[in-house]
Amino acid sequence: MHPPLANLSQLSDRKRNGPPLSVLTAYDYPAARLLDEAGVDLLLVGDSLGMMVLGLPDTTGVTMEMMIHHTAAVRRAVKRAPVISDLPYHAYETPEQALANARRLVEAGADAVKLEGGVDFVPQVRAIVGAGIPFVGHIGMLPQSVKEEGGYKKKGRTPEQAEKLLQDALALDEAGAAAIVLESMVPDVASDITRRIRATTIGIGAGSGTDAQVLVLHDLIGAFPWFRPPFATARADVAAEISRAAREYITACQAR
Ligand code: KIV
Repeated sequence: MHPPLANLSQLSDRKRNGPPLSVLTAYDYPAARLLDEAGVDLLLVGDSLGMMVLGLPDTTGVTMEMMIHHTAAVRRAVKRAPVISDLPYHAYETPEQALANARRLVEAGADAVKLEGGVDFVPQVRAIVGAGIPFVGHIGMLPQSVKEEGGYKKKGRTPEQAEKLLQDALALDEAGAAAIVLESMVPDVASDITRRIRATTIGIGAGSGTDAQVLVLHDLIGAFPWFRPPFATARADVAAEISRAAREYITACQAR
């Protein structure tokens, strides 16, 4: 196994020379500690925590307080992997608000912050990067826009959509993004963006041509059996193990 990323300044070297990076979400101390010790390159305290650990229907109900609470738990666990934290819905409407909230995540322990959007958010990105806070973009399917978009839709299917994605990626790259998540888009579009920008691309549901892959931890370990996206391969069945252990315990209690 290649040595894992030690800090964000190694991103461009890994983009040039490989191997591709591994990124997983983490929301709590034990998971973050296990993933860090296993050698995952980067950890993302994603606002997917709203669904995966808080039982919300989507990410739009996630607040700054929730992100700070979970970022601090992950920080306490991690010795090496850089930690990226999401700015939640409505937390970056102006450059001033984006910077103030980015600072709160950094104080809680984030090494970098992420927000969803492209060209329209360049002023926010410039404010964050200008303050010396490493920034990660997120384009393609944007979970925080699920209500406006009427569902989770794959992007880049038409030449116009592909061009818009490229322009968003170029704008974030130019504004100083260290990395950009490319979520749920046509693989050729993601590969093209990866070749044309300096920032590290982190794909999810975007094919195999990106510099890194990110997965929601619960999808990887089979800990959220009620829904798993089609592109995610579960490599464990933690839900079945929890149910089995609980049933065994119930039986043991009753047999006393
Ligand atoms: O919140 C999250 O987990 C994310 C990933 C899906 C990229 O943003």
